[in-house]
Amino acid sequence: MTGKVAVVTGAASGIGWATAEAFANEGVSVVAVDIDPSGASLADRISTEGGSACFVVADLTRQNDCASVAETARQVYGGVDVLVNNAGVVHRATILETSEADWDRVMEVNVKAIYLLSREVIPLMVERGGGSIINMASGWGLAAGPRAAAYCASKGAVVQLTKGMAIDHAPDGVRVNCVCPGDVDTPMLEVEAKELDVPRARFLAEAAARPMERVGYASEIATSILYLAGSESAFVTGTSLVIDGGGLLG
Ligand SMILES: NC(=O)c1ccc[n+]([C@@H]2O[C@H](COP(=O)([O-])OP(=O)(O)OC[C@H]3O[C@@H](n4cnc5c(N)ncnc54)[C@H](O)[C@@H]3O)[C@@H](O)[C@H]2O)c1
Repeated sequence: MTGKVAVVTGAASGIGWATAEAFANEGVSVVAVDIDPSGASLADRISTEGGSACFVVADLTRQNDCASVAETARQVYGGVDVLVNNAGVVHRATILETSEADWDRVMEVNVKAIYLLSREVIPLMVERGGGSIINMASGWGLAAGPRAAAYCASKGAVVQLTKGMAIDHAPDGVRVNCVCPGDVDTPMLEVEAKELDVPRARFLAEAAARPMERVGYASEIATSILYLAGSESAFVTGTSLVIDGGGLLG
């Protein structure tokens, strides 16, 4: 993938950080994006290690910010080959416990931001003859879990959005897939433990209750994203790749 350009959102933390690093290690130029300005240190680190990266602070629920991300990619690297729509938020609550503001936040970050940024980036991919988009869904986009109604709804929407986008943009050479991780050890799990008022250790132990008896690592999701980004998955589009240590098997 050397010489390609990848935009990775939610790159200040967790899976996004690991994915940006994995791309940089493959010689891909990375446009790292996050609402959290601390993500700038990732771009510095990649550059120090001999890779190429820039960082854009953006609230991806805002159309103008998404336009700036695409414009930065065009100005700095001449375009985009890969878009990883990874930024996301969790909210562990039933709908009776979910305020309208929380519902809107979850749907806007997890779903609307994919629409807004993809709308800016797809024309840049088409200019280059095609590209690959990887959307971040979740195991809870396929099955559901307790006290996560808005989150499950948002990730189910990502699975279907992925299929719709895959159909529409295949003729232009743009493949669109999503990944569906099970619990991955990132700061998001801390948020969930806090929202559910469960001690972190107990939360992690419960999250590990799956055939492989452990939670996942961000680097394991990153390698699957690399596969979907590159030519090894050239005939794969519209798929939902489950990466969960067997968690959804029953
Ligand atoms: N960790 C898990 O167990 C798990 C499982 C399945 C799916 N996922 C999904 O993976 C993705 C990454 O999660 P993570 O575990 O790395 O979480 P994380 O909290 O470590 O990272 C999420 C990042 O998204 C950024 N973000 C949030 N709102 C934003 C906005 N409006 N604009 C720009 N950036 C914004 C945050 O600042 C943060 O850096 C999410 O979409 C999440 O739903 C995570």
